[in-house]
Amino acid sequence: MIKYLGSKRRLVQTISALASGCGASTAADLFTGTTRVAQELKRQGAFVTAVDTATYSEVLAQCYVSTDARAVDHAELVEAIGELNGLPGRRGYFTEVFCEKSRYLRPENGARVDVIRDAIEDRYRASSLYPIVLTSLLEAADRVDSTTGLQMAYLKQWAPRSFLPLSLRVPELLVGPGRSIRADARKAVASIGPVDFAYLDPPYNQHRYFTNYHVWETLIRWDAPDYYGVACKRVDSKNASTHSDFNSRQTMPAALADVVGRIDATVVVVSCNDESWIGREDLVAMCAARGHVEILEFDSKRYVGAQIGIHDLTGQKVGRVSHLRNVERLAVCGPRTEVLGALEAWHRQVQSSAEVGSFSRAPRRRVPLGPGAVGSAGGEALR
Ligand SMILES: C[S@@+](CC[C@H](N)C(=O)[O-])C[C@H]1O[C@@H](n2cnc3c(N)ncnc32)[C@H](O)[C@@H]1O
Repeated sequence: MIKYLGSKRRLVQTISALASGCGASTAADLFTGTTRVAQELKRQGAFVTAVDTATYSEVLAQCYVSTDARAVDHAELVEAIGELNGLPGRRGYFTEVFCEKSRYLRPENGARVDVIRDAIEDRYRASSLYPIVLTSLLEAADRVDSTTGLQMAYLKQWAPRSFLPLSLRVPELLVGPGRSIRADARKAVASIGPVDFAYLDPPYNQHRYFTNYHVWETLIRWDAPDYYGVACKRVDSKNASTHSDFNSRQTMPAALADVVGRIDATVVVVSCNDESWIGREDLVAMCAARGHVEILEFDSKRYVGAQIGIHDLTGQKVGRVSHLRNVERLAVCGPRTEVLGALEAWHRQVQSSAEVGSFSRAPRRRVPLGPGAVGSAGGEALR
């Protein structure tokens, strides 16, 4: 699975247990990113709608969420991947910009990306294999990149993996239907639902995914944009249309409250962490509009860039990493019976699994539910 800031690799089993605990047969993953969570919900049998603004995320969702593995000719797919793997490299825009002017991949692998991406456009643009072979290429590039996970700065030395030859693999498709939507969550929310379960995992700070993952954005769009800066970011990064309400301290809390309030779902799970602009109290208050609220907290390692440190092209460290761990927080909200049912199922299924780490429920407190009403948020610690 690809490296992604804020990816919920360690929380996937928890989220999926919460969904199964409320018997979800329909679900939405509103900031789907890598589609990890959406994939797990689909694996569980739910019809999932995956939403994100990123073009690469849409393609990942088309591959893993909306493609039904039964509808794909596996032999044709294997042949397509084999043919693409056999193409000799040819230097083009990608090599020049991302391997010579910046250092995302080694130039020999960049030349393979150039030729394979052109071939995908020529041969598969109108085929149902298109998002699948694109996903395969994106994942292949990620396996041999020379980053700490972000496409904004560089490792001091080429990463050892970057010397490996770029090689496409057949993505592991999932059985069943699903839906992929590229849209702002605030707009998409009106057309999603009703669903049994919704997972909301917005960005928590000013770091924009559009710039952090600009190489993927260009790899998928294949539009050879003008670029600027040491990382060769797309010039349209400067356009307001590529900005998100969820990346601004001023707009994020209201934007999230808007989506939490309007999503047509029975149980809603909202992710935040202790570095977010939304503190625990505010999160509870926001979710209380939907009924009962429980908070789960997980001690967690921060993203890999924080562990290694970030360097510029000359190998100098860029900035200082202040801390290496944080607390991931899940607010589970909705009708009391469903929320408690979800928590019980989670408790049964994953309490002993390695994923969980330390966790607690919020201390009991009273929170307003609306005019004249109160509800409880959380209870005693789960053991
Ligand atoms: C914390 S990441 C989600 C990670 C994801 N849960 C995973 O496990 O891979 C936040 C995601 O929100 C997306 N995003 C940012 N602004 C958005 C918006 N206004 N509407 C929908 N998605 C948005 C970003 O592209 C990014 O993929």
